[in-house]
Amino acid sequence: MSADSRSPLVVTIDGPAASGKSSTAQMVAARLRMRHLDSGMIYRSVTAARLRGGDAPEHWTEQSVLDAATRVSLAPGATSFAPRLDGEDCEAEIRGEAVTGLVSLVAKMPHVRAWVNALVRATAAAYEIVVDGRDMGTAVFPDARLKVWLVAAPDERARRRILQRMGREPTVRELAAEAAELEARDRKDREQTQPAADAVWIDTTGITQVEQVERIVGMAEGMR
Ligand code: C5P
Repeated sequence: MSADSRSPLVVTIDGPAASGKSSTAQMVAARLRMRHLDSGMIYRSVTAARLRGGDAPEHWTEQSVLDAATRVSLAPGATSFAPRLDGEDCEAEIRGEAVTGLVSLVAKMPHVRAWVNALVRATAAAYEIVVDGRDMGTAVFPDARLKVWLVAAPDERARRRILQRMGREPTVRELAAEAAELEARDRKDREQTQPAADAVWIDTTGITQVEQVERIVGMAEGMR
């Protein structure tokens, strides 16, 4: 946690896939009257833009992904930002299996990371944001006033994801398949998924979302 009052008012919430970052960040932002920015959504939108090219991912050069990225933008709303591709909302498209399966490939490209990071920083220069992702507290906002690192047990992350997607508790088989998928994505993302040395760790396995949000809001309010 940086106590520097001149640093921008940014709260970062990082952690592995399905650790509850986005939903937590959204609630924290609403409580603090800031806007929520989901950085994973930007990587997903760039992936969707490149997927529309129609050619096999083996042919995706970094330059071709960067060219596709220029078609992605963020539309500011009252409490968050909506992803736009060629000027149109692409939220449903970026949550699909095709994008989820390829986003880690795109996120490995250093110039793409630099492009996304520049967009996130430009957004933070114009709005007070609670931003979630993998490296927001390390690579993007090393001086953020409050950095949170969220973790949860793999089975619990898988359970929450299925509950969110299907609106019911998973079967044992569904739970195992989802946990394996999450762990595979964690492995692919490992390099950029590291806690900042000064991040506050919150293990959400045994606590409710309301409790998580209260803890983060309490810390952030003390720093305003
Ligand atoms: O958060 P979400 O799971 O939607 O992120 C999708 C993907 O975007 C991750 O699997 C990761 O490859 C990439 N990502 C990243 N750095 C971030 C946010 C997301 O590499 N800050």
